[in-house]
Amino acid sequence: MEARAKRLKLAVLISGGGSNLQAMIDQAEAGRLHAQIVLVVSSNPEAYGLTRAQNHGIKTAVVDYGKYGRKNLPTITRSSLPDHFGDLVERQRIYSGLPAHRLEDRLARLVLAEQEIVGLLEPLNPDLVCLAGFMRLLSPFFIEHYCGEGTYRVMNIHPALLPAFPGSHGYEDTFSYGCRFGGITVHFVDEGEDTGPIIAQAVYPIWPEDTLDLVKKRGLELEYALYSQCIQWMAQGDLLVEKAEDGRPRVLILDPDYPRFMEQLTQQSFARNPI
Ligand code: GRF
Repeated sequence: MEARAKRLKLAVLISGGGSNLQAMIDQAEAGRLHAQIVLVVSSNPEAYGLTRAQNHGIKTAVVDYGKYGRKNLPTITRSSLPDHFGDLVERQRIYSGLPAHRLEDRLARLVLAEQEIVGLLEPLNPDLVCLAGFMRLLSPFFIEHYCGEGTYRVMNIHPALLPAFPGSHGYEDTFSYGCRFGGITVHFVDEGEDTGPIIAQAVYPIWPEDTLDLVKKRGLELEYALYSQCIQWMAQGDLLVEKAEDGRPRVLILDPDYPRFMEQLTQQSFARNPI
C-alpha cells in the first residue's frame, strides 16, 4: 500500500449483481484499496449487490427509478424540479432525436431520481462516486454536483474499448461485431454518455471458438482488477486531469508502477486463454 494514499470516501451506485462492487470490497478489506465505502445506492430494489454490501456491514439505500416512471407518476410538477431545469435541458447530451416535450419529460424523471440520490450522498460528502453496473443515465444535474472545471468525482467502468461501443451492451456489441480483441475502459464521467476522459484501458483476445459468455468472463476479470486500481490511483493522488492541445481533457497517471501494472494485467489476460 502506498504510504501517501488517503482513505477515499466512496459512494457506489449499482443496479444489479454488484460483482464489481464485490471486487472493491475485497480489495479494500485486503488493504490494497485505500477506500471506505460509505454508501451503496441501487436503482433497483432487487439488486443482489445490496446483499453483497450488507454482508460486509456497508450502508445501503434504494432509489427506485420505477417510482418516477410514467406509469407511477403521470405528471410532473415544475416546482419539484430545480430552478435551473431549463439550463439542464439546454446542456444535456444524453438524449438525441427526441421532440422537445419528450426530451424534457425524460430528463425531468431522471432529475427527480437524482435529487433523491444527491440528498442521500450529500451528508456523507463522498470524495468519489463510482458507478458499478449502474444501468441508468446521469443528467447534468447529477454531474454538476460532483464535477467542476477540470474536476471529476464520478468514475465508471465500461465493458468495451471506448470510444468503440458506448451504451449498455459493450460485450455483446464487441462480440457480434467480430472483434479480435475486446477491452474495458475506466473513465471519469462527464455530461455525455460514455464520453468522459479515459483513465485506463485493458484488452483481452477473442479466439475463433469463443462464446459470448467466455468473452464476458475474460473482460470481467479485467474489470475487477483495473477498476480498483484506478480508484487506488485516485486515493494516492496519482490521477491528474490536464487540458490537451486539442482542448480535450486528458488523464495523466503519475504512479511510476503504472506501466508494470498494465503489463502484468495484459500478460495474465493473454496467458489464461491459450489458443
Ligand atoms: C459490468 O460488465 C460493467 O462493466 C457494466 O455492467 C456490468 C455490471 O456487473 N457496466 P456487476 O453488476 O458489477 O456484476
